Amino acid sequence: MDAVQHVFKGTFIHSTTRCDLEIIENHMLGTDRVGKILFFEDAQIQSRLSQKWGFDESNIQALGNNEFFMPGMIDTHIHAPQYTFIGIGMERPLLEWLEHTTFPTEDTFCDVELARNMYNTVVYDRVKPIITPRFAISCSERLLNKLGKLAEKHDLHIQSHISESPAEIKEVRRLFPDYNNYTEVYDRNKLLTNKTVMAHGCYLTNEELCVFRERGAAISHCPNSNISLCSGHLDVRNALNHRVKMGLGTDVAGGYSISLLDAIRKAIETSKIIFMERSKSERDNNETQNKQQENMKPDEVNEDTQNGPMKTENNHNVLSYKEAFWLATLGGSEALGIDHITGNFKVGKEFDALIINPEAKDSPFEVNSHVSKEEMLQRFLYLGDDRNIKSVYVAGICVVPFPSNT
Ligand code: GUN
Ligand code: FE
Repeated sequence: MDAVQHVFKGTFIHSTTRCDLEIIENHMLGTDRVGKILFFEDAQIQSRLSQKWGFDESNIQALGNNEFFMPGMIDTHIHAPQYTFIGIGMERPLLEWLEHTTFPTEDTFCDVELARNMYNTVVYDRVKPIITPRFAISCSERLLNKLGKLAEKHDLHIQSHISESPAEIKEVRRLFPDYNNYTEVYDRNKLLTNKTVMAHGCYLTNEELCVFRERGAAISHCPNSNISLCSGHLDVRNALNHRVKMGLGTDVAGGYSISLLDAIRKAIETSKIIFMERSKSERDNNETQNKQQENMKPDEVNEDTQNGPMKTENNHNVLSYKEAFWLATLGGSEALGIDHITGNFKVGKEFDALIINPEAKDSPFEVNSHVSKEEMLQRFLYLGDDRNIKSVYVAGICVVPFPSNT
């Protein structure tokens, strides 16, 4: 066991691409002394693996029958100082919420000791410097310009907010009349790069999404916040069709939940709401056109509108649970530019993982012998909570439960 730190055996579930969810049973995964994945192989070759890596049966940590590993979930957008007022004052829309609740609380963080304590509560490892203009409204053009240059000079990550709410966009238009759109405000000031993550983007046009795609900039989709602050809905399908990098964010405290499981559920539900709204407006349009056509002569009738009002049923293209799982794991790591380090169980990446136990004491959902692993994962994503999360590993180190508590 010189080179090997841990050897795990059991079922592993991870994404390899947006649509490819792999459920890998009876596998063995070994980590090295710095928490990287050394091997990930079929347990049928256990004796060969144990010879090669120098471990024996007693070193193997085997999962229970219905337990499985999944990659740690990645929150691509959260405000550490806002954790103090999570779940409070959610009745206001974005700009009023900022003025009334957020800014006064954040002002108290000029007390460095207070700030340090809060950041230690919320922020974990892997912290890197990141250029963070709050959003265009709170910056002058000169500041944006200087920040863009600073990011370029030091090759830094960049994060901000974009096109979150209609009132915000209106204000940006007023403050930056020389720019064609919100995206251009960041882009012309070098703040839209392949190291940029912009939160929300609910109202980005297709033209703006194309600029995101060209620059390699990512969107952090924060559905809880978008609903809680009545900001709007991101059309996640459209953004994915534009091949924009994307992950999920809690946006605490614009979003009231710290849970990525909540973000997964709300991302799926938002996509369904958009689908229903679109179907309704298509039906309404068809009805209007049908009424108009009733008054037309036969040779004026438009062929495209003759397929009946329910044609959208055939185009049921809502976000699948597999895609939402990908967004919460590999998609998030791609958005943050850390997919070479984390996001799934590829050899060479760090071992960031959760052990999920669907049969945990007080589990919020039930499983029986007829439930497949795939169905178990779906139930966990829709119904599970931290009672089902038996362990958390970050870079090969068990952080939940803390070793001292076991
Ligand atoms: N836009 C500018 N600042 C903020 C913030 O703190 N939260 C959210 N949701 N949007 C913002
Ligand atoms: Fe935010």
